[in-house]
Amino acid sequence: MNALGELMARRISHSGPLTVAQFMAEALNHPRHGYYANRDPLGVAGDFITAPEISQVFGELIGLWCAVSWQAMGSPDLIYLVELGPGRGTLMADALRAARAAPGFREAISLHLVETNEALKSQQKHAVDDAALPRTATWHDNLSGIPDGPVLLVANEFLDVLPIRQFQKTPAGWSERMVGLGDNGHDLRFVLGPPQDRPALLDENLISAPMGSVVEVCPAALSLAAALGERLVRGGGAALFIDYGYSLSQTGATLQAVRAHRYQDVLDGPGEADLTAHVDFGAFLRAGNEAGARGFGPLGQGEFLTRLGLQSRAQNLKTNASRELAVEIDAGIARLTDPDQMGTLFKAVALQAPDLPNSPGFD
Ligand SMILES: C[S@@+](CC[C@H](N)C(=O)[O-])C[C@H]1O[C@@H](n2cnc3c(N)ncnc32)[C@H](O)[C@@H]1O
Repeated sequence: MNALGELMARRISHSGPLTVAQFMAEALNHPRHGYYANRDPLGVAGDFITAPEISQVFGELIGLWCAVSWQAMGSPDLIYLVELGPGRGTLMADALRAARAAPGFREAISLHLVETNEALKSQQKHAVDDAALPRTATWHDNLSGIPDGPVLLVANEFLDVLPIRQFQKTPAGWSERMVGLGDNGHDLRFVLGPPQDRPALLDENLISAPMGSVVEVCPAALSLAAALGERLVRGGGAALFIDYGYSLSQTGATLQAVRAHRYQDVLDGPGEADLTAHVDFGAFLRAGNEAGARGFGPLGQGEFLTRLGLQSRAQNLKTNASRELAVEIDAGIARLTDPDQMGTLFKAVALQAPDLPNSPGFD
């Protein structure tokens, strides 16, 4: 077992099993051993690859979504442009380049990036320095440090890293799936907590799920949607989230561990693999709606990008490209949009202040 596994086993033997959310939070964010503490996990040489790293068109179209949303808000002189979990800063760099198409937009931007990983923060600094925005960018550990006012927020593959809780239906009630210790008192393994009537935050429709079903809830995503919804109502603006997940709350465990582009056992080597769960977009939008924001989507990533003008942007890029580059551009577009690749599993949702017209790409 690795150092973080040993720390967790000691904690469990003193204080009892961890919830899956506690396990996930430690494995991802432990200040010394956490997966996201200080490494760059992205790219071919890393553990996984994300849409902005596949094609520049992805970030460019999101930049256009931001510019059109800003215009729909009446082109305010100051807009807080926020990205949650910006990775290498690639999406934002591409978005800011495309944003030049909207006169006055770049001058209005005050850029705020929410990131906990020091290694990625320095890559993000380089990426956004190249964009030469008139105002200096600021980094935050969470959303609460961003000043009040109109906001445009984007986040790609951020919600899936937020810690989830899992509950299993048993004849005695709903039992929380937890991480405890095996018979040898040392190895980590899944155990069930005491049964309860109905877990907090469980979707109404899942109460009658068949015996043995596992359901997941993500309290951090729901709090984020509620806080963001309130903020959008108060200060105006719009938020766009793209991630993999499902449209309606459903049963089934989706927690997964990925290392070097392969799935591995979730409890194996905590802190060494990326841990994610599919996003419950239905629950996320409901939490934003309850706070007063208007919700849009979920819409498959392929359809969303196509509606924002993916094909004509790709065509433009290919006009001056070599044959090899044109093939590469097409392969990237196919990967982002094909239903059997990222086109439908990945989805877009938006939350907006209630007074804005329909969100670009969703009507
Ligand atoms: C899966 S990566 C996605 C990166 C980027 N958005 C992309 O599409 O390439 C998740 C990002 O969220 C950041 N992150 C993870 N946990 C976080 C947290 N609790 N608060 C802020 N950022 C976090 C990671 O460091 C990383 O930048």
